Amino acid sequence: MGTIISMNNINFAYGKKEIFSNLSLNINKGEFVTIIGPNGSGKSTLIRILLGFIKSEGTITVNDLVMNSKNSRKIISKIGVVFENPDDQFVAETVMDDIAFSLENLRVKPSEIKKKIKEVVDYLDIEYLLNREPHTLSGGEKQLVSLASALVIDPDIIILDEALTMIDVDIREQIYKILKELNKEKNITIINVTHDMDETLYGDRLILIDKGKIILDGKTSEVLLEEKTFNKLGLTLPFLAELSIKLKYYGLVDEMILDMDEMVDKLWK
Ligand SMILES: Nc1ncnc2c1ncn2[C@@H]1O[C@H](COP(=O)(O)OP(=O)(O)OP(=O)(O)O)[C@@H](O)[C@H]1O
Ligand SMILES: [Mg+2]
Repeated sequence: MGTIISMNNINFAYGKKEIFSNLSLNINKGEFVTIIGPNGSGKSTLIRILLGFIKSEGTITVNDLVMNSKNSRKIISKIGVVFENPDDQFVAETVMDDIAFSLENLRVKPSEIKKKIKEVVDYLDIEYLLNREPHTLSGGEKQLVSLASALVIDPDIIILDEALTMIDVDIREQIYKILKELNKEKNITIINVTHDMDETLYGDRLILIDKGKIILDGKTSEVLLEEKTFNKLGLTLPFLAELSIKLKYYGLVDEMILDMDEMVDKLWK
């Protein structure tokens, strides 16, 4: 499991407003990372820096390529990104053309584009959306289409920036199941950025950012034990994490259990 993303000594300010000072972060290939932090803590800025959309001091290496004007296209061609507001990303009249767009940009042959789209659309089960106008879709459908556009390029990394926060729990769960599968079966590195604590349950590693600094970083089940640190920032632990801490206190479980079925199983026995 080698390093796929390495950000070293990142310094960045919007004008005089300093956001990062000597921030360093490594992400390994195949990790499923959640980056959590209160509003305004710098999460989206970090992603924009990582994607080369804004320039910072320091070095960024992705897939052994140093981020610079020469490499940025190549780097981005292997990163699928899903943002909170997909409307900003839709460019075509139909869902089909929209998903095709990123491949056309990469100069993929039309016959190959058709094949790829079919593959992804079958996988996500969204054939029925192909002829729709993107702007007429529901929030959840829009995010499924954005995910399709992210997947069709065969990404090594998928980044979601608050992409699942505003959608129905049902579609959210469905997308998380897909992300987990992509992570486990295709070894795609997943970075999910959110300020919603319930979303921390899905990743294996959890990074807490506040005011541009990494406060906590480690295995999700261990990081969530730091309840006080989260509460100080106005973040409340997900129900299962809180329950685990209480049960642990009474010796009923010996570690954090973040899966409902697993929890029921444990308590039942
Ligand atoms: N283009 C900009 N110019 C000036 N300041 C900005 C700009 N974009 C963001 N900021 C400020 O930088 C800080 C970090 O913003 P950022 O969007 O990275 O936070 P975030 O953690 O993604 O927040 P949220 O959870 O609300 O999405 C905030 O104080 C924000 O107001
Ligand atoms: Mg943000």
